[in-house]
Amino acid sequence: MSIKVNYNNMMQHALGARGISDAELNEAQVLARSAHANAEAARGKGMQGWMDSPYDQDEVVARINATAERIRKTCENFVVLGIGGSALGPIAVFTALKHLYYNELPASVRKGPRFYVVDNVDPERMNALFDIIDVNNTVFNVITKSGATSETMSQYLIITDMLRRRLGDKARQHIIATTSEFKGNLIKLAKEYDYETFYIPEGVGGRFSELSPVGLLPAAVVGIDIAQLLKGARDMDEQCSSPDIARNPALALALLQYISVKQGKNIGVIMPYADSLKYIADWYSQLWAESLGKETDRRGNVVNVGQTPVKALGVTDQHSQVQLYNEGPYDKVITFIEVGNFRSDCVIPQGCEQYPDVNFLCGHTLGELMNKELYATRYNLTRRGRANYTIYLDKVDEYHIGALLYLMQLQTAYAGEMLDVDAYNQPGVEGGKNAAYALFGRQGYEQKAQEIRSAAPDDKKYIID
Ligand code: PA5
Repeated sequence: MSIKVNYNNMMQHALGARGISDAELNEAQVLARSAHANAEAARGKGMQGWMDSPYDQDEVVARINATAERIRKTCENFVVLGIGGSALGPIAVFTALKHLYYNELPASVRKGPRFYVVDNVDPERMNALFDIIDVNNTVFNVITKSGATSETMSQYLIITDMLRRRLGDKARQHIIATTSEFKGNLIKLAKEYDYETFYIPEGVGGRFSELSPVGLLPAAVVGIDIAQLLKGARDMDEQCSSPDIARNPALALALLQYISVKQGKNIGVIMPYADSLKYIADWYSQLWAESLGKETDRRGNVVNVGQTPVKALGVTDQHSQVQLYNEGPYDKVITFIEVGNFRSDCVIPQGCEQYPDVNFLCGHTLGELMNKELYATRYNLTRRGRANYTIYLDKVDEYHIGALLYLMQLQTAYAGEMLDVDAYNQPGVEGGKNAAYALFGRQGYEQKAQEIRSAAPDDKKYIID
């Protein structure tokens, strides 16, 4: 496995008194072992079905590849409709593994459809999409596990209405549903209109679903080798089979974050040094925040836990947020993601000998500059006692991305065990969804609507107009 985790800069020997001591880490090993044991005991059960994803999908992978092949040959555009866990993974994997200007490449180079994800209900963006795609040559993949999410179902209604008006009975050929086999409205609609359908296993929740058909179909459509994604995940799972933090990177990272939060480090910055990994930070932020930010523990005690994830991008954010990371409160842990070998590089040419302050760059490459800047930023932060660790990827390919996603899912699951929270529910999100249903007068939400109506109105004295 060529993913390495280096957490020297979390420890006292690098950070001084602000770091974690070996004694503290040793003492916490008991917690790590029990988190590992609990996660293993629940493997494949309840909402931990995602731990089976690397192993039990041969049949569905074959079907996904066949569908993807057909779409690649016949379509100009592939559009994902979804939100949250049903969109962030597809965006992250596409950006990580495809050309950074993929949609702008000529079709002969792309060898597959242009790829879009509509993960919001901003009307301007929806209309903008219609300005650039021909729906006759487009397949829409509607992804919603619950089959009830207002945003996704609104998008679905707009798209199907348009398709039916333009294409009549042929509209069904332009929709693929990815949803629960048993619950929700999308599966009913899929049966009624005979859409091609892929199922999201019941034990796989939104933010843990990238390695299920949610992420695998969009990835395969743009030509990503999904078997390699799953192989990377499998090998990472194998690597994390040990209950010993010295051998299990996901467990070590969960424990380090757990101890850091106890020390008051309530912000977790995720900062990849590669544009291709920019949206891995978005995906991870949802995973970490929605899984661990909880009001109560599993016994019902009010705990209000969770570390706030913050997305940053190296080197871009060195010129904005890194000032705060160096000199602001000692309340952050920074996760760097380093890439050993970029898929291509750019030499900074000679030709500026007369200006030594510029000339020092000449003859080096942008890849070198990126990684030297990471080294320098990490060095500086560490010297100032700022906690950070690095996940090192030899290169960005299917295998490593599958391994990275799985590492992060496991880290989150272990952290949930350590905090003793249910990492798989999201009552806070449901609260907002229900309030929105009530505002639209949805049947069954009358009480919520009444509650909203009787809430104290805004006081004019706090409004400036
Ligand atoms: O992680 C989650 O469960 C959520 O973020 C969901 O993915 C999101 O709310 C969308 O839900 P659904 O897939 O049911 O439309």
